[in-house]
This record gives sequence, structure tokens and C-alpha cells, in this order.
Amino acid sequence: MPKEVFGRGYDFLPKSEVLSFEELARLARVFVALGVEKIRLTGGEPLLRRHLDRLVAQLAGLDGLRDLTLTTNGSRLVEQAAALHAAGLRRLTVSLDALDDTTFRAMNDVDFPVQRVLRGIDAALAAGFAPIKINMVVRRGVNDHEIEAMAERFSGREFVLRFIEYMDVGNSNGWRLDDVVPAAEIIARLGDTMPLVPQYPGEVARRFRVEAGGEVGVISSVTEPFCGDCTRARLSADGHLYLCLFAGHGHDLRTPLRAGASDQELAGIIRATWRVRADRYSEIRAAGSARQPKAEMSLLGG
Ligand SMILES: C[S@@+](CC[C@H](N)C(=O)[O-])C[C@H]1O[C@@H](n2cnc3c(N)ncnc32)[C@H](O)[C@@H]1O
Repeated sequence: MPKEVFGRGYDFLPKSEVLSFEELARLARVFVALGVEKIRLTGGEPLLRRHLDRLVAQLAGLDGLRDLTLTTNGSRLVEQAAALHAAGLRRLTVSLDALDDTTFRAMNDVDFPVQRVLRGIDAALAAGFAPIKINMVVRRGVNDHEIEAMAERFSGREFVLRFIEYMDVGNSNGWRLDDVVPAAEIIARLGDTMPLVPQYPGEVARRFRVEAGGEVGVISSVTEPFCGDCTRARLSADGHLYLCLFAGHGHDLRTPLRAGASDQELAGIIRATWRVRADRYSEIRAAGSARQPKAEMSLLGG
């Protein structure tokens, strides 16, 4: 969320347009009844939502949900890690793009030091989260010199490290193809410094075991798109269903929800929307013909 776009004076959503925890939990229940097995809380920054542990507790208790996880920038983990774990959260992803403070700030445009995130990761370990997933988005010329240092720092058993190709999500991050460090290049560089043993691929990542007992992986959504395997539905804070990370608009679930639709009616709307899903932006981009207005990453959560 670059400050020149989302700075002071930006007109954020009024609270009445944001789904309450009860509304979110109800929609989650409908999605789970339709076959969703995994929910990820993301954002924006999820730890900015007050009493988030209460939502976690409601979701953790959903019958049929196999996996509940959260992605955070880590800035408030020191204060919240224990409460989130106590509420039933067992999996955590922390976004961390560099260990060096100047590089970290250049990448993220944030007002807190990298030390705060590192202390948050320690607090999460102390609270019982393990392994913790670390997401590093790699941008050429900005933080790619930190690839090896990050791999070294997070190669233990307590961590799973993911290198993510920098993507052209939204319209405000000024993305250029030259900014992308291809996953193949990242793996080649890592292979020069540590032995990598290929593992069975994950949902979106190519995975490797490292000697220290941990795991690294790469997510190559730009150079090797995986649209055909994508099963992710995204629900924005204001109750819109997005079918793709690169979608331009979402399908309104809040209006029927607030107009009194039954669970069955909501399920019908979701099913009808999902069935006609044909999005494959990353493949189209790879073919060189992508040009469309897109929703911002901060709305869709990654
Ligand atoms: C949009 S953030 C939202 C959650 C939380 N605020 C955080 O920082 O983790 C989710 C993930 O998307 C990643 N991300 C953000 N912009 C990206 C981009 N342009 N390309 C690839 N990944 C990106 C972040 O690094 C983070 O791991």
C-alpha cells in the first residue's frame, strides 16, 4: 500500500460496510459446507482488526474446516501471538522481505523497524507456532541481495521459507517485468550455497528440504503461472467474492447476506458464481497480452 496512494486522507471504508465477525463466520460456514477446507485470514493487515482472536475462535470451531491460517506483516505479533494461539490458530505466515532494516523499509514503505517483526517471530515461536512460514517477495535491485541471508537465517526446523516472485497485483505498485527475479534463478543461487533436496510440490510452491532440517520453496506465479490448479476464492472485508487475485471486481455477497438470505440461498449464489469461473490472468500475462484494471492486493490479501 504505497503511501502516495494510501496516505493520510485516503478514504477507507466506513465501518458499516465492513463485515462483522458474525457475518464473516457465517459466510465461512457456508463456504465450508460447499467444500472449502482451508481458510486464510489476510488483508490489508489482519492484526489491525480489533479483537481478531475472537474471529479466530469462531472460525477454529467450524465443523469441517481442516486448516486455519493467518498472514501478517508481523508488526503486532509481540502483543497478539499468544492470544491468537489460545484462540485456536495453529498456522502462521509472516511476511518479511529482508533482514537488513534499510532494505526492509525500502521494500515495504512501513514505519516500523525490521527488529519489530523479528521480535514478533520470536513471540510466535514462544506462543507455540511451529513451523512458522516466512514469505519473502523478491524484487530485483531492491532486496534480491538478501536471498542467501534469509535462507541462512530461516533454514531451521522451526521455519518454512517461501520466495515469491514479485507480481503485478493491483494498479499502484509500478510493476515491471524487469523487477521479477525468476524462481529458477532463486533456486540456482540457493543451490550454490546449500544442498536442496526436491520435495513433492505444495499447493502453489515448488518445495525443497535443506540440510538444517527446514524447508525452502519458490512461488513462480509470474514465470510459471499455475492458474489451472488455482482453487482460491477470496472474500474482501466488505463481503465481495473475488475469483482471481488479478480480478477487477468482486461479486457482492454482503447485500444478500444483509437482506436476510438463508444459508442455502447464499450457497446457491456462491456456487453459481464459482461454477462459471474462467479467470487465468497470469497465463494471459505470460502470453504477453494482459491489460486490465485490477483490484489492489491490500483488498485481496495475496
Ligand atoms: C497482501 S499481504 C496481506 C497480509 C499482511 N498485511 C502481510 O503483509 O503479510 C499477503 C502477502 O502478499 C505478499 N505480496 C504483497 N505484494 C506482493 C506482490 N506485488 N507480489 C507478490 N507478493 C506480494 C506479501 O508479501 C504477503 O506475504
